[in-house]
Amino acid sequence: MDKRHEPGRRKVLGAAALGAGAAVLAGAGQANAAGTRPADRADQPTPAGRPAKLPVPFVIGHRGASGYRPEHTFGSYQLALDMGADVIEAGDLVPTKDGHLVCRHEPDISGTTDVADHHEFAGRKTTKTVDGKKITGWFTEDFTLAELKTLRAKERIPDVRQHNTMYDGHWEVPTFEEVLQWAEREGRRRGRPIWIFPETKHPTYFRKLGLGIEEPLAKLLRRYGRHTAHAPNILQSFEPSSLQRLSALGVKCPKVVLLDEPSVRPADFVESGDPRTTADLLKPEGLKWIAGFAQGIGPWLPQIIAQDDKGKLGKPTTLVRDAHAAGLFLTPYTVRNENSFLPLDFQVGKNPGDYGNSLAYFKALFATGIDGLFSDDPDTALLVAEEFRRH
Ligand code: G3P
Ligand code: CA
Repeated sequence: MDKRHEPGRRKVLGAAALGAGAAVLAGAGQANAAGTRPADRADQPTPAGRPAKLPVPFVIGHRGASGYRPEHTFGSYQLALDMGADVIEAGDLVPTKDGHLVCRHEPDISGTTDVADHHEFAGRKTTKTVDGKKITGWFTEDFTLAELKTLRAKERIPDVRQHNTMYDGHWEVPTFEEVLQWAEREGRRRGRPIWIFPETKHPTYFRKLGLGIEEPLAKLLRRYGRHTAHAPNILQSFEPSSLQRLSALGVKCPKVVLLDEPSVRPADFVESGDPRTTADLLKPEGLKWIAGFAQGIGPWLPQIIAQDDKGKLGKPTTLVRDAHAAGLFLTPYTVRNENSFLPLDFQVGKNPGDYGNSLAYFKALFATGIDGLFSDDPDTALLVAEEFRRH
């Protein structure tokens, strides 16, 4: 999967999909352009597990403010916080060889660090299979924390976000403990809790390597007093058993099951022989099952508003209603301002890196009654979220 060109979690959105000319507001976008409540929202139950202290809808700075700074750096996290993001996705968590949790989106650090320029690590380049996919690169689990700290972060998509490349080499790879210390410091400075939304990445893969993520995560959350039900954290994973394991370890904060494309089986299901796919989890009985151990779901955007085979926005699905009926809150992922990542009819011009009409897309999404939303551009998301806020 080339994550650089969502939507299409597992597909590249080719250049042919661009160049739609002036953006057109889809019907769903127009329906609530003034920020009015959707007709059915008043009838929907408030999900009991939704963090009561957060506004609704809340904005999650995806990998920080990764539209403006290289992802998962303190530059990105700080900017997201300064922009007013309600929650910061700090971070996606993977372990080092010596068991420290660091903030990277995947074990392979080729695309987001300068590891390829470090000749001393040339021999560590290797090919591995992660969740059934062959990947060649350098992997966090082959580096000690001290070694990883000699690397510097860089922009993942320099072709789309050339402006971010000016920060290449400026920041280290953060550890999760540094995130907790940063959140504590910023919390004291601002006189309010700093909400974070860490994700366990490939937990089954790492556990089989003897590098379980949940134990060190639970330990760190406990050390910083963030393991309780009302601590300012939400925890997320594409693997339901990772969240169940965290609960068994006494971590009581709200938990969100991330939902991949419908045909995908979560890696822990593959491991345990559970035949269900994401499509099964999206059904009312699947949502009811999730509500047995989690408080929310993180759907992929087209699961909230469908897109046709050309990539144009269609109609909202029933997922918001179904999830709320099951008592779950929803935090779909991920809206980005650039044409590359927007539905076809929200793109403006032919340049993949130019901004499209993301304001209209945000409006269409918030109008469905979602509880929160991941965005690489939290400032843009907030501009629209404010119109929909209810307390
Ligand atoms: O965590 C929500 C969203 O980030 C899931 O997608 O692949 O960007 O981690 P991903
Ligand atoms: Ca994530």
